[in-house]
Amino acid sequence: MTDVREAALEYAHQNNERFLNELKEFLAIPSISTSPEYKPDVQRAAEWVAEQLRSLDMENVQIMPTGGHPAVYGEQFKAGKDAPTVLIYGHYDIQPVDPLELWTSDPFKAEVRGENLYARGSSDMKGQVIASLKAVESIVRTSELPVNIKWLIEGEEEIGSEHLGEFIKKNAKMLKADFCINPDAGMISANAPTITYGLRGLAYFELRVHGPNKDLHSGLFGGTVHNPAQALAELIAGMHDKKGRITLPGFYDKVRKASKAERADIARLPTTPKHFLKQTGVRALWGEPDYSPEERVSIRPTLEVNGLLSGFTGEGSKTVLPAWAMAKISCRLVPDQDPNEIYKSMMQYLKKNAPKSIKWELKNLHDAGTAITSRDSVGVRAMAKGLEQVWGKRPFFKREGGSIGVVVQLQKYAGVESVLTGFGLPEDNAHSPNEKLHLPTWNKGIDAFINMFYNVEK
Ligand code: BES
Ligand code: MN
Repeated sequence: MTDVREAALEYAHQNNERFLNELKEFLAIPSISTSPEYKPDVQRAAEWVAEQLRSLDMENVQIMPTGGHPAVYGEQFKAGKDAPTVLIYGHYDIQPVDPLELWTSDPFKAEVRGENLYARGSSDMKGQVIASLKAVESIVRTSELPVNIKWLIEGEEEIGSEHLGEFIKKNAKMLKADFCINPDAGMISANAPTITYGLRGLAYFELRVHGPNKDLHSGLFGGTVHNPAQALAELIAGMHDKKGRITLPGFYDKVRKASKAERADIARLPTTPKHFLKQTGVRALWGEPDYSPEERVSIRPTLEVNGLLSGFTGEGSKTVLPAWAMAKISCRLVPDQDPNEIYKSMMQYLKKNAPKSIKWELKNLHDAGTAITSRDSVGVRAMAKGLEQVWGKRPFFKREGGSIGVVVQLQKYAGVESVLTGFGLPEDNAHSPNEKLHLPTWNKGIDAFINMFYNVEK
């Protein structure tokens, strides 16, 4: 047993450079799921993943249609019907790259600088997908997998996995597994291996405010027409009170209170206020005073303006009173908040507070459910031990602020629990310019995955 594990680890170390080259190839495909003009690239990324699975002797490899971008499936049952089955999840889609001028190198020509590989998707999460693929390759090229395996690599995670729930519902039997390994959750720092046991949910809106039927001369009409940009700003400003609490009616009603014990666990995590200052470069932190920064990004819900657009924003000046203003607004949610109820609560707020001088419309763009996963299960034990075998220390357990739609969908529609982990770091610039992957951590991640497969209790 130990010998085959060692052989796989040895194979991984020897083939490291090729693994990196294949990752670079994958990163060269601009599979931006939100932009229709990249649809052929999204498809190409799916095909690339399917080809990898076929080259690993996976069976029944399929690029399966969903209502949106396709999902890639593959399986292998050589371990036999009494062996456990592990489902591996990943997403091959990525976030847009703008603002492009802030990138030091081309986001689609992966470049190694120092210990890092720079490219869009390197950390979130093509690097993680390759880590799992290459861990499996290292095993199947040197011996055989000790467990049965299934793959679900989707193309809509970064836009809320809108069609994946339906897909999982339809294919629940095909996706059935003892647990799902999901390496999309990252880790606290390069020397703090992490298992995430909670994710926030999301409710994402677009709010449009309409004023005059065209842009107006601000001298002729300013003072008689409510400026839509101002009206929107007033509405947005009213969504928080002075203490940073959200004012939408009933917003906090369903928030599950964290226990004293859980808050004590959070206080013991190695993330201090200083860590947040350093990661972000802000002058001072902001937020609900009764909670620590770590709590504010994990057990507390938020409301953020993601973008604002109105009027004249080019160089120079133009004295104009804009016809409309738009904001993208999203809420991170915690158990047991429900995205649909939050939409209703936003509607109520707007009905109550929008002035008569403007028209408004609210679009519900997408959402994700909140998740709490088990902290002790066959899958968690296998992954925790794998991390410990590589890092030489037990992993930290924490709740994360990000959202991953599939976790709830797998729980709800297939009864499969996820083990959330990953080898992305907070300083990797996920969703930002100069996204990167810390290569030493990535290599350790491949080793941890190899170990994990051998740690699954029969
Ligand atoms: N990998 C992230 C989510 C994440 C990051 C979880 C760090 C835990 C720790 C994922 O790819 C992501 O960014 N998801 C989106 C989903 C949303 C569009 C529904 C997010 O959280 O913004
Ligand atoms: Mn991700």
